[in-house]
Amino acid sequence: MNAPFRYPRAVRAMHALIALAILTQMLLTLVMQHPRAKRPMTPQGAFYFQWHEWVGLAAFAVLGANWIYRAARWKQAVRRLFPWSTRPGRAELGRELGLFARLRWRSIPLDGALAGTVHGLGILLASEFALTGSVLFILLWPSNQVTPLASQVMEVHQYLGSAMWAFLAGHGAMAVWHQLAGERSITRMFSPRN
Ligand code: HEM
Ligand code: HEM
Repeated sequence: MNAPFRYPRAVRAMHALIALAILTQMLLTLVMQHPRAKRPMTPQGAFYFQWHEWVGLAAFAVLGANWIYRAARWKQAVRRLFPWSTRPGRAELGRELGLFARLRWRSIPLDGALAGTVHGLGILLASEFALTGSVLFILLWPSNQVTPLASQVMEVHQYLGSAMWAFLAGHGAMAVWHQLAGERSITRMFSPRN
């Protein structure tokens, strides 16, 4: 296993905000209602939907800052989060997938192409929700009227909900697994003094 590396303070701060916002959003979807053409929302359903809108806009802002940060260090971002977009990255990803298939999981580097690809997909997924959600916010403004266009964007917005749940469960489980295996993943990512 590689020597543990340190995440820059900005990465840790943005990650904490993104994790908190996305987790909150996903939990809110379990209790909120959303605007419909025929039936009005209950007061409680509308209350939670309002929170979903505002937390979603905050998530959009943090993810936007995250993209600007990554764009300014694009080569590093490609290596860490989108290794599949370069030839050496794809070769490394293939090698690590081979190790995964042969159940040699302890030989897969913590900061390698496989972990990076999953993290990158998580960022893309979260950005898709934040972007389509923010477009929805504009389309539904000011009276939550569901036009045919708003209805189509809603379809796109909720389409990948299961993928987001799967990412959160898998990513969270891997974080706990690596922490318990002594690699201090959660401490390195979340401790303010790290
Ligand atoms: C990163 C931020 C966001 C995440 C992770 C997120 C996540 C989700 C998920 C998973 C669903 C599907 C719920 C289900 O099928 O039970 C959903 C539904 C919905 N969200 Fe968001 N959302 C975000 C931002 C927003 C924003 C900013 C708005 C602003 C209007 C919004 C409006 C809606 C609406 C209207 C629905 C209902 C869509 C439908 O079921 O047809 N979301 N959201
Ligand atoms: C949808 C929300 C989330 C997204 C998009 C996300 C994304 C990421 C990304 C991109 C990285 C790698 C950063 C880099 O290499 O520069 C990362 C690492 C990490 N994430 Fe998340 N994350 C989310 C939620 C969470 C949650 C809820 C937890 C709580 C357990 C968590 C725990 C971690 C840990 C511990 C690491 C460090 C892994 C290591 O180096 O061993 N993440 N995450």
